[in-house]
Amino acid sequence: MTDRLKPLTPAILTLDDKTYTLPTYIGIEGEKAIDISKLRSQTGYVTLDEGYGNTGACESAITYIDGEKGILRYRGYPIEELAEHSRFVEVAYLLLYGELPTVEQLQHFSTALNDSSIIHEDMHHFFNGFPRGSHPMGILATMVASLSTFYPVFDRLDEASEIQIVANLVSQVRTIAAFSYKKSIGEPLVYPSHTLSYVRNFLNMMFASPVRDYQLDDDIVRAIDMLLILHADHEQNCSTSSVRTAGSSMANVYAVISAGISALWGPRHGGANQEVIKMLEQIHAEGGDGTEFINEAKNKYSSKRLMGFGHRVYKNYDPRATVLKKHCDILLNKPGIKDPLLDIARRIEEVALNDDYFISRKLYPNVDFYSGLILRAAGIPTNMFTVLFAIGRMPGWLAHWREMIHGERVAIYRPRQIYVGESIRHYRDIKDRT
Ligand code: SDX
Repeated sequence: MTDRLKPLTPAILTLDDKTYTLPTYIGIEGEKAIDISKLRSQTGYVTLDEGYGNTGACESAITYIDGEKGILRYRGYPIEELAEHSRFVEVAYLLLYGELPTVEQLQHFSTALNDSSIIHEDMHHFFNGFPRGSHPMGILATMVASLSTFYPVFDRLDEASEIQIVANLVSQVRTIAAFSYKKSIGEPLVYPSHTLSYVRNFLNMMFASPVRDYQLDDDIVRAIDMLLILHADHEQNCSTSSVRTAGSSMANVYAVISAGISALWGPRHGGANQEVIKMLEQIHAEGGDGTEFINEAKNKYSSKRLMGFGHRVYKNYDPRATVLKKHCDILLNKPGIKDPLLDIARRIEEVALNDDYFISRKLYPNVDFYSGLILRAAGIPTNMFTVLFAIGRMPGWLAHWREMIHGERVAIYRPRQIYVGESIRHYRDIKDRT
């Protein structure tokens, strides 16, 4: 335990007529924990907590969430302030290294990102090997894992190697994403440019072409930059836990991040932003206003869920959804940008927030509910939405990986279980089986 956890009065546990004392701690924001690290050796019992909703996997100083109050802070800074005043590259530095950068530190970091923005030319052959219509998340997970073959990672990482790994991943995730899009539409690749900032570079690689002029829209650049900030970290979510799990075996960091990308792909996690738009498009195509879909989502015998609603931690409004909704209004009120799905989204939100089914289950709009509308306004194709989530989450994944490998001890993630299968039985030859 680090010295930032303060001991409380120990917990007393009585099991099988024996009494045990379990240490308890309180974190700097008042979160309390019972230390069960010696529970099995002392009592023979393990805990059961499907989905780990009540289990702290680690101490962390990166991100703080209060789900009841709708609070999200990166290294102590409220997400609302960072979304308003900061830029994604600066927030990435904050998450990775713990402090907002000085002018010199930011310049050094930006230069490292720029110098690492081009992928190895031999990687271009991989793009040609993917079948037409391959999902960009499948390409991204594969290509990121393949970086381990171009950048061997040695057991003992020195500071320079770590900085290079961070720069490769934070910068090249954009290039891989944009290249996979260009390949999917059969257009020539547009390389990163040292004259453009992080988001401008990405949008230029996505939409510029040798045969047409591409004007970067400042409002769209700002909205995408803010969207990446809001997605940059979220403590021990499913994909970050996957990164920590894979990283705890000291696997190659590119393979570890690929594990995070794969977990993020799921429709209940990062894939939800794509599902929200599919849901809104279906409602729009049917000429409905969402009422029927909401009723289906409330039906426990239906597999349908109101995508973009609900959260494992936020039992109040997701603070990121509040910021995104504001930027949605700004972007979609621009001349020439009109999206009928926004009106449907607003109506669904209004109906759900006044419906006891959602109120009683504390189901509020989450980060994915509005993000897809911003991405649509930016011209990002729907199947690239979760890729944008991965670009945003990259600094968070790397910050947790760094925090773990620099921890006092790196315990390999190995949960226990309660076995409920067959008791011992003995092999029978196939002629004796019925
Ligand atoms: C992200 O963890 C993170 O931090 C994730 C994330 C991040 O930044 O990394 O914030 C990003 O993944 C946001 C979540 C995106 N997913 C979606 O929008 C998909 C739709 N949401 C749900 O699938 C669901 O809300 C979860 C998975 C997000 C959370 O599920 P929980 O908290 O485990 O809730 P549950 O499955 O235990 O359900 C509790 C009740 C159930 O009803 P009852 O059995 O009590 O009758 O709420 C219902 C559920 O059926 N419910 C929903 C619902 N979500 C939960 N009913 C309809 N629509 C929904 N969206």
